[in-house]
Amino acid sequence: MVTEVSTAAYSCRAREYTEVLGSMAAVHPSDLHLVSKWAGDVDGEIVDAGCGPGHWTNFLAEQGHAARGVDVVPEFVTYATNTFPGVSYTLGSLESLDADTGSIGGILSWYSLIHYEPETIRIPLQELSRALKFGGTLLVGFFEGHAVEEFAHAVTPAYRWPVDVLSAELNATGFDVVESHVRKTAGQRPVAAIVARRRDSR
Ligand SMILES: C[S@@+](CC[C@H](N)C(=O)[O-])C[C@H]1O[C@@H](n2cnc3c(N)ncnc32)[C@H](O)[C@@H]1O
Repeated sequence: MVTEVSTAAYSCRAREYTEVLGSMAAVHPSDLHLVSKWAGDVDGEIVDAGCGPGHWTNFLAEQGHAARGVDVVPEFVTYATNTFPGVSYTLGSLESLDADTGSIGGILSWYSLIHYEPETIRIPLQELSRALKFGGTLLVGFFEGHAVEEFAHAVTPAYRWPVDVLSAELNATGFDVVESHVRKTAGQRPVAAIVARRRDSR
């Protein structure tokens, strides 16, 4: 579970995180392509769940999508609200989204599930599954590895996941994986993304 400790760690380092990673200029071109293409296929509202500095939410809004951001760290929500005043950002949790059941077209969880201990990952996944409409899609960005392992993320400990293991967790919480991508760059942690569709039953 994402603890108060990890939330506090982000609160302390929100400014630093924002300076380094909080703009579209810091985004890898293939991620930009992936997120843009995914969003283009979404029918309905998009929630950027764990939006951090809010740059992805704003990007999606600029592309014409009905997008809003949610984050558990007040400093991020304040920064995003001040920086992108035309976009809605609210304080909230991946474990209790402010959304009616089956009401959301797409959820972007871009590196926001990485701090969950593996045995608790289904808590947010079940909530995202609840909020999505049938056929709605979830795009998850995460660090990839050969096994589920904790590593020393710059802000607070995080976990790397094999694509098939995270896919199994998604499958167990109401999703069908429709595509996955892995990117390995020398000298950097391998990264991955999964697009999963909300299964047509509750
Ligand atoms: C690695 S940052 C990614 C931020 C942003 N998505 C990006 O791509 O730059 C992880 C984010 O997830 C947020 N987060 C982690 N657990 C959360 C939870 N349970 N509910 C809402 N936000 C959460 C953190 O506050 C942080 O902003």
